[in-house]
Amino acid sequence: MPTDHHVLGPAVVEAIDIHHHYGDGAQRVDVLFDINLQIREGELLIVTGPSGSGKTTLLTILGTMRRPSQGVLRLLGADVTNMQGAGLDALRNRIRFLFQKRNLLSSLTALQNVIAGVSTTPLSDPAWNEPRARHLLGMLGLGDKADAWPDELSGGQQQRVAIARVMIGLPDLIIADEPTSALDRVAGRLVVDQLKDLAMRAKCAVVLSTHDERIFDVASRRLHIEDGRCFEVPIHYH
Ligand SMILES: Nc1ncnc2c1ncn2[C@@H]1O[C@H](COP(=O)(O)OP(=O)(O)OP(=O)(O)O)[C@@H](O)[C@H]1O
Ligand SMILES: [Mg+2]
Repeated sequence: MPTDHHVLGPAVVEAIDIHHHYGDGAQRVDVLFDINLQIREGELLIVTGPSGSGKTTLLTILGTMRRPSQGVLRLLGADVTNMQGAGLDALRNRIRFLFQKRNLLSSLTALQNVIAGVSTTPLSDPAWNEPRARHLLGMLGLGDKADAWPDELSGGQQQRVAIARVMIGLPDLIIADEPTSALDRVAGRLVVDQLKDLAMRAKCAVVLSTHDERIFDVASRRLHIEDGRCFEVPIHYH
């Protein structure tokens, strides 16, 4: 039974009494109620729940892509609820997103896609970007695919290139919305195992939504959303 707790660091993201609704008046739909949640360095949190339960809504709020209707969001210790401008941009630079598919730019090779994950950030260094990108592709088993175009790669290989692109930016928080749902079992497993490894070794936090119960056991914690409320579910390790 994994005991991750001794390696966990401070809270990367914290939601306090978050509530979210879409629309107003007769069109109003209340999606999330009373969300209280802390995610720390080194943790991989899985978010589950039926279709339409609010997983994507929660992930976009945690990733600062959407402002909650009510409540407080803290990121790396800072209250971002009403933050704007350069301060918010600097924090957003610490977050990376991974979606179900189409994470890569089709006009760039695998290597160029990975480099694109860092080239517009303060971490960029022309002497460092390419060797680092090659190293990451090698680590993810794609050393011989650096010059391939996304179209020439399988879905699982494309998703691993996307992970390398996330990794090169050294994020503190990774938001992954159903990153394995377009993959077969083996490829999906590889992708979540690599995200878990990244969380533990690079000391970042990963929030991953999924419908796939075969990958629940990779999580440090599982949060289930039903009828707008979320609760933690114990993980059963095989
Ligand atoms: N932009 C929007 N405007 C209005 N309602 C929305 C909007 N986005 C989502 N919703 C509604 O909010 C609810 C939650 O949607 P959300 O996409 O967060 O669910 P989900 O759990 O990610 O679903 P799925 O598993 O199908 O991806 C749904 O009822 C949806 O119709
Ligand atoms: Mg969704």
